[in-house]
Amino acid sequence: MSETVERTNVEVLFDPETIAERNRELAAEIVAAKPEKLLVIAVLKGSFVFAADLIRALHGAGLAPEVEFITLSSYRKSTASSGQVTVLRDVETDVRGRDVLLIDDILESGRTLAFAKDLLAARGARRVLVCVLLEKPEKRAVQIHADFVGFTCPDYFVVGYGMDVAHAFRQLPFIGYIPDEGASGTPS
Ligand code: IMP
Ligand code: MG
Repeated sequence: MSETVERTNVEVLFDPETIAERNRELAAEIVAAKPEKLLVIAVLKGSFVFAADLIRALHGAGLAPEVEFITLSSYRKSTASSGQVTVLRDVETDVRGRDVLLIDDILESGRTLAFAKDLLAARGARRVLVCVLLEKPEKRAVQIHADFVGFTCPDYFVVGYGMDVAHAFRQLPFIGYIPDEGASGTPS
């Protein structure tokens, strides 16, 4: 199935119902990890829609997390990873002694999440659990394990449900890809 958005053909990979169902399952998995003093940290910008839905699924599963945000850069306008991660906007909460659930949209090379996980562990978090909406296993460059994975994703450059290409398509309620963009990492 595909949808035309701004005169662009976007192929649907995961529809809204499939995502909502998976979010409920993820929340149950997170509850099973018995988090204490849970602080959710969403990596902006790409994870903001996923995080918004997941924290409400966590509420439905009986958890009451605090919520924070961190803005990290790795991708800019290009679809290829720059390899370097920097903090553009930091969290405002002390993570010492807390269980942190780090939420991101995609685990690809792993550089973004490896950087964030190390940073929070170094600041004294009790546990740093990693939850990603999508995992692209073929592109891993550094060792990092995601504790919770929404979906394994083929090697496409995906958009929607918070994710963008050159700032567009974040508003789509589904996860899709633009066939003309080719696989991520492929010059387009
Ligand atoms: P990593 O550091 O290579 O694991 O890159 C992860 C980050 O790259 C994610 O948080 C996304 O923001 C971005 N990213 C990777 N693949 C895609 C994609 O297919 N669409 C949109 N953003 C992506
Ligand atoms: Mg991101």
